[in-house]
Amino acid sequence: MLREPISDISKCVEPDRVRREVYTEPQIFDLEMQRIHETVWIYCGHESQIPKAGDYYTLQIGRQPMLMVRGKDRKVHVLYNRCPHRGNMMCGDRHGNTGEQFRCSYHAWQFHHDGTLKNIPMMESGYAGTRVNKGSAELNMKPAARVESYRGFVFASLSSTGPGLKEFLGKSIVAFDDMCDRAPEGEVEVVPNCFRVIQHSNWKLFMENQIDALHPSVVHQSTGRAAHEVEKQIAKKAKGGEALSYHMLSAFATVTIDKWDNFQTISYPYGHCVLAGYMGLRPQDPDTLAYDKIMIKKYGQKRFEEIVGVNIHHVLVYPGLSVQSPLQQLRAVRPLGVDRTLTEIWHFRLKGAPEAIYRRSLAYYNLVNSPATLINADDLENFWKCHQGLSSDGGDWVSLARHHGHDIEKAGEVSSAPNQGTSEAPMRNQMKAWAQYMRS
Ligand code: FES
Ligand SMILES: [Fe+2]
Repeated sequence: MLREPISDISKCVEPDRVRREVYTEPQIFDLEMQRIHETVWIYCGHESQIPKAGDYYTLQIGRQPMLMVRGKDRKVHVLYNRCPHRGNMMCGDRHGNTGEQFRCSYHAWQFHHDGTLKNIPMMESGYAGTRVNKGSAELNMKPAARVESYRGFVFASLSSTGPGLKEFLGKSIVAFDDMCDRAPEGEVEVVPNCFRVIQHSNWKLFMENQIDALHPSVVHQSTGRAAHEVEKQIAKKAKGGEALSYHMLSAFATVTIDKWDNFQTISYPYGHCVLAGYMGLRPQDPDTLAYDKIMIKKYGQKRFEEIVGVNIHHVLVYPGLSVQSPLQQLRAVRPLGVDRTLTEIWHFRLKGAPEAIYRRSLAYYNLVNSPATLINADDLENFWKCHQGLSSDGGDWVSLARHHGHDIEKAGEVSSAPNQGTSEAPMRNQMKAWAQYMRS
């Protein structure tokens, strides 16, 4: 642990390595909540989580308890989950419907869905001659400084300055386009509810792992191998029949470590990144063919080919979102403390697609994320072990040197070199963005 106050954060990050305190020091965690999570655009949720007026969902942005609510005018508002009277949290439940207005459970102050004050009981008699005047902004529930939605995905920034949402997302916007374009109706809707997982490690370990092409064939090899064995037996019994659920898992073993180098990472400004390459989850079975037919009818052959040809596996929207668009799932990262991180893992339905396509992506969602999964469990164990190791005096630096010096930089984008998909370029890019934010 650091024994002195941190005078120069930028010394913690070098182009190919990072000081361990970046992951373990509570003082740094507080600063990064302030300068990163409570400043930049953070994913709040999907509009379909709150279809009716008064529907709300609570969430965390950095250290701030927030809520996302649908107004009577259909507008989505993001507010601090705090009553302006004596600070009571307005909504104690994770989600629900607040009715015609918010009503604080402590002294019954009431607020419109946009957070503006509606009524204070006995206002006239209680507050005459005081600083409390109806109409004063201090009597409203405080809104997030900025709220924007892109194709139904709602983001908020707690800072009134900085790039707009589209500029911030840059090319990582492909995550939302890819997911929605794969729907015959061009939209997705959320599948209630999500998996919530708390990992005992710093949030950055999660973000790095999501785009770490080196780890799957190691960490998930045992699961992949076991699934491959069962898959072979099923195929034998069914005389070559499909066992897609097992195939989704066996890919972790059949795509060996060297093959992951065929993938490519492309890093963007603000720490975002795309892992290009596809694990081959689109077989030519009757369900897929039925879906293809609907899509071709809707979009025409050329556009259909473009849509299903988008070759991405994961998109990272730094610092708090990982999207797996071809499988309609995303993970929102909510740091809880320097060594505790909540991830919300949401799944989406492609509007207008056959039920079988939904069932298939749901199977993958459960296979890799459910409490029974061996995939996420193996990642979680490494997150905890990394955090434990980094908390020790066994070394000062975390190495991000794999393929350093070989990255291809062009117009602000950094691609891993051909056959270097396991490059740690995306981690270097994340830490570069991190250092820029922390210096600001
Ligand atoms: S704290 Fe909310 S009305 Fe008093
Ligand atoms: Fe993993």
